[in-house]
Amino acid sequence: MKVLITGGKGMLGRTLAKALAADGHEIVVADLPDWDVTDDTGLFSKMSAAHPDVVIHCAAMTAVDACEGNRELAFRFNEEGTRNVALAAKACGARLFAISTDYVFSGEPPREPWAWSETDIPRPGTVYGLSKFAGEQMVQMLCPDAAILRTAWLYGAGGGSFVHTMVRLGGEEGEPLKVVDDQRGNPTSAMTVARAIKFLLTRPDVSGIVHATCEEQCTWYEFACEIKRLMGSRFPREIVPCTTAEFPRPATRPRNSALKKSVLNVLGYRTAPWKEALAEFVEEEFPR
Ligand SMILES: NC(=O)c1ccc[n+]([C@@H]2O[C@H](COP(=O)([O-])OP(=O)(O)OC[C@H]3O[C@@H](n4cnc5c(N)ncnc54)[C@H](OP(=O)(O)O)[C@@H]3O)[C@@H](O)[C@H]2O)c1
Repeated sequence: MKVLITGGKGMLGRTLAKALAADGHEIVVADLPDWDVTDDTGLFSKMSAAHPDVVIHCAAMTAVDACEGNRELAFRFNEEGTRNVALAAKACGARLFAISTDYVFSGEPPREPWAWSETDIPRPGTVYGLSKFAGEQMVQMLCPDAAILRTAWLYGAGGGSFVHTMVRLGGEEGEPLKVVDDQRGNPTSAMTVARAIKFLLTRPDVSGIVHATCEEQCTWYEFACEIKRLMGSRFPREIVPCTTAEFPRPATRPRNSALKKSVLNVLGYRTAPWKEALAEFVEEEFPR
């Protein structure tokens, strides 16, 4: 199949391109500067010429804190850009996978333990989350056959990601690293998302919201401890837990944004547990 990936030079896009090319798919990397999802007519004519069978929409304004101060830009990229991609994919008759985020949820769970299901009502607490949710609504309105894949806490080859930051800081000398221990989520490798998409390519009947993160949840501190354990002597620095209040940021982070994979599980598909996916990644990305 011919698969066009918007944001194909980004962290997730690169992994998708490599994983799908390895399966024999023809890949079109659609990223800046040649492809701009906010340029509706340009995108429409380029997409018509490429005529893909599948479009995976990864392009987005992903800097969560920058979105907070640039509401207009965030909505231009994440809502209007997604609308343009949905319209162009529909005009080509391509199947659309739109990548979305755990940030569509407030992060304030009604009880603990908790994980948000595909049927829970989003209530974003940030501009990034609001703009991505607006993008989801565009996709649902314009391409009801599309699949919207919500993922979270992503890391992938080349970074930048929490894993890359921790590995770098963990190898430096200094005070113990403080890592937030009161926010929960699902650390997820880009390869886990790629595998879920490969599975969904075998299921053309699946549409709507699909949660696609690794299984099991943890805090950022627990995530960092596992990175340290896997890196061994290459991560000598101590890590200590801290609270969100100690690290005020422009965008309020969800306290719990773990996602339940109800749709994938009903289809008989299980993503890897986060520790397993992380071990696979560390071995490949940081070989001894
Ligand atoms: N990273 C996470 O933890 C995470 C979590 C949940 C969901 N997601 C979602 O996953 C998707 C991929 O994220 P990622 O981490 O791979 O992000 P990324 O590394 O920032 O990749 C996004 C790519 O899109 C490109 N892009 C930005 N604006 C564009 C435009 N107007 N037209 C075409 N391309 C454009 C970027 O180019 P430049 O670099 O030149 O701007 C970049 O190559 C996004 O939809 C994001 O919302 C990410």
